[in-house]
Amino acid sequence: MYVKQLEFENYRNLNNSLFEPGKTVNVICGNNAQGKTNIIECLWLFTGGRSFRGAKEKDMIAFGEEYADIKALFFTEGRDQTIEIHIEKGKRKATLNDIPKSYLSQIIGKFCAVVFSPDHLTLIKNGPDERRSFMDGAICQIDPMYASVLSRYKKILNERNNLIRDIPGNRELLDMLSVWNESLCAAGADIASKRNEYIKKISIHAVNFYDGISKGKEKLKIGYKMNCKAPPEADEKEIYNLSLQKLIRKQDEDIRCGYTTSGIHRDDMTIKINDRDAKTFGSQGQQRSAVLSLKLAEASVLGEEKEEAPVILLDDVLSELDVSRQNYLLTKLSGMQVFITCCEQTVISDNVFYVENGVLSDRPFTPEG
Ligand SMILES: Nc1ncnc2c1ncn2[C@@H]1O[C@H](COP(=O)(O)OP(=O)(O)O)[C@@H](O)[C@H]1O
Ligand SMILES: [Mg+2]
Repeated sequence: MYVKQLEFENYRNLNNSLFEPGKTVNVICGNNAQGKTNIIECLWLFTGGRSFRGAKEKDMIAFGEEYADIKALFFTEGRDQTIEIHIEKGKRKATLNDIPKSYLSQIIGKFCAVVFSPDHLTLIKNGPDERRSFMDGAICQIDPMYASVLSRYKKILNERNNLIRDIPGNRELLDMLSVWNESLCAAGADIASKRNEYIKKISIHAVNFYDGISKGKEKLKIGYKMNCKAPPEADEKEIYNLSLQKLIRKQDEDIRCGYTTSGIHRDDMTIKINDRDAKTFGSQGQQRSAVLSLKLAEASVLGEEKEEAPVILLDDVLSELDVSRQNYLLTKLSGMQVFITCCEQTVISDNVFYVENGVLSDRPFTPEG
């Protein structure tokens, strides 16, 4: 799939204009704070996800304006399609092929992309939250129904937490707990088995990519670590049984703490380099290569499942890689539409764009005077 046109109105500092990228590698050059990441962020929004830099709606609207409108024309499933997103303070609305959607989640899976920026090192450096979001976001693009199971789980978890907080004052409520336990574990097992399956798929690719990047010198290993301690070969039923047993075992503790201490909201992804935890023992360079491998693997799996390559968004990552890694990356991405931002143009491409003060041009801005 590829983007043919991108239009923005009142989107951050980007001048209201039309951007027509090429089908292959697009290089977006510019000095700091000119609008490069804004373009990448804008493209990413069409996946239906939140801003990859964690921005709120109001941050994306140009200062002093009330709304922002962005529109993408892209080619997928053999035809041109469009997504329009209207952003107002605290809300977003989407229109897919001129049909308004009640929920933004309804566009997930239409426009598929993988984004990678230096900030994504948090995937290794931060806590398990970040890794669960990575898995969940990636699975949602492949299987949009997954988003509804996730929100069901969150709802049940909330209800269960409310109930256990009321139990100390009203012991009769204890009888109701078993119903919530079962539905929590049913939704949880559905999610865990999908994450488990996803990690198995992505792992094969990520290991290969890491092997290529490290020229066979180091070995990456990734796995899915379930809080219920189910083995990787466990099926949904087994995960359900194990998590229900644990939930019941920890019931008294949950009531004491006032929240649910076990479940898939406590799962994690393990990332190891040469059998050592990448977070604790990996160098900055190793961590960067590991995240890059994961991102490339995410793109590969997405491409396989959708039978169409996703769009690749690389924000500021090239300058952090040495030339051989840059070349490796670009070779692996050939055939896909790629957007690369950088301060200095190092990549040779037919499609080079320049951005200055929110204005995009296909010609370098000449210095004044
Ligand atoms: N809501 C907004 N309205 C207007 N300008 C904005 C808004 N949000 C960010 N900016 C401006 O965008 C610029 C940063 O853009 P960014 O894409 O992050 O730069 P870079 O080219 O370094 O990636 C800054 O000049 C900032 O003031
Ligand atoms: Mg930037």
